Amino acid sequence: DRKHKVTVIGSGNWGSTISKIIAENTKAHPNLFEEEVQMWVYEEEVEYEGQTQKLTTVINNHHENIKYLPKVKLPTNLVANPSLEDAVSNSTILIFNLPHQFIHRICSQIKGKIVPFARGISCIKGVNVTDEGVSLFSEWIGDDLGIYCGALSGANIASEIAAEKWSETTIAYDPPPMDSSRNPSRVTTPRSATPNRATSQQNAAELSITPLANMQHKDARGRTSKTKLTPVPPEFPPLDHETFKTLFHRPYFHVRMVSDVAGVSLGGALKNIVALAAGFVDGRGWGDNAKAAIMRLGLLEMVKFGKEFFGETVSTGTFTEESAGVADLITSCSGGRNFRCAKKAVERGISVQEVEQTELNGQKLQGTSTAVEVNSFLKRRDLEHDYPLFTAVFNILEGNNTVDDIPELVAKADA
Ligand code: NAD
Ligand code: 13P
Repeated sequence: DRKHKVTVIGSGNWGSTISKIIAENTKAHPNLFEEEVQMWVYEEEVEYEGQTQKLTTVINNHHENIKYLPKVKLPTNLVANPSLEDAVSNSTILIFNLPHQFIHRICSQIKGKIVPFARGISCIKGVNVTDEGVSLFSEWIGDDLGIYCGALSGANIASEIAAEKWSETTIAYDPPPMDSSRNPSRVTTPRSATPNRATSQQNAAELSITPLANMQHKDARGRTSKTKLTPVPPEFPPLDHETFKTLFHRPYFHVRMVSDVAGVSLGGALKNIVALAAGFVDGRGWGDNAKAAIMRLGLLEMVKFGKEFFGETVSTGTFTEESAGVADLITSCSGGRNFRCAKKAVERGISVQEVEQTELNGQKLQGTSTAVEVNSFLKRRDLEHDYPLFTAVFNILEGNNTVDDIPELVAKADA
């Protein structure tokens, strides 16, 4: 039987950590996956051992992403590739893991160049706001590339997971009907000790053949998607909950599989706005009570947003019970980059963007742009007042309000 080839698109702090997890699992499950995992790297030059070198060269020679995930050994079956087209070619599983501001360009570059029956998982925390409305990156990637794409999100500060400290995550995947339960006996398939490279290469060469008819499926809002999917050929392991759990689950990274793609994606995006607010009040020296109040109000606005704009499918339980909801909110408001940069900005009296540029060594905040994008979406619909915390964060970033205004601004939520 054929195996899935996996590519991770992105190699930042989280991209490199997820690549490590996946490469460990492809090696551990040679019956399902090709051992070698491709990781697309946005190429740049770095200083290493007194020389200027390409980041991909350093990763491939020393198995460490010295810029975005220093001091963490990466598996040797993880290959850094500076060519996006080459990295995705013949891959049947695509993992999107890069700052959300770059995803549009990446998708346009690989459109039409991927395996038609590929399936994706988006690890991106952000929402896509356009004149027409708000969409999830999982949705947007799926529609743009003509594939099905689920979402992974959780209380997942990358550095802790890279150090193999235990955490949980949530993967939302609502597989198209033709992908699931085609081969329930596969778990009993004997596992060979080493992957069969000849078979893997042969697989790759034949992947462009897609003899099966296109089929329709439901999108994250429960509507019939305009995207016509190509079924995964039966000779491949099905791309269902079990396969994705196997790809991501580690003893230190526990995966819960759910079907609420909208709830999981929104949790990861909106908590970043709340984390900025938590950083603002902490930087102001207001202590844990104020931070807890921010988290309570933030969670309410997250649920309200989900119900208002994705009500057909989103489940409140995703926000209140899953790692992708309340747990991510708590960890992000405790030690995330958005929280830390917002806190420093208030302490030093400078902008969050300034802290991002000077402190993060190229890593990108998602909360600042998400706050602006969500605000422009709400403003266009005259709904800013219904989301006072999200609106306050936007106005503080823009210099229209100060942290001291927060209590009065959010009091309107209870009025
Ligand atoms: P990061 O913040 O480390 O961002 C840097 C990455 O962006 C690098 O790989 C860099 O090469 C790339 N980059 C810079 N300019 C680029 C360009 N013009 N085009 C394409 N790529 C470019 O990234 P990350 O932490 O891996 O975050 C990816 C996603 O994962 C984000 O949505 C984030 O919210 C989410 N996330 C992050 C963490 C975390 O702890 N870091 C945890 C969970 C989820
Ligand atoms: P930051 O991007 O704020 O570091 O958040 C990381 C995260 O998503 C933790 O789950």
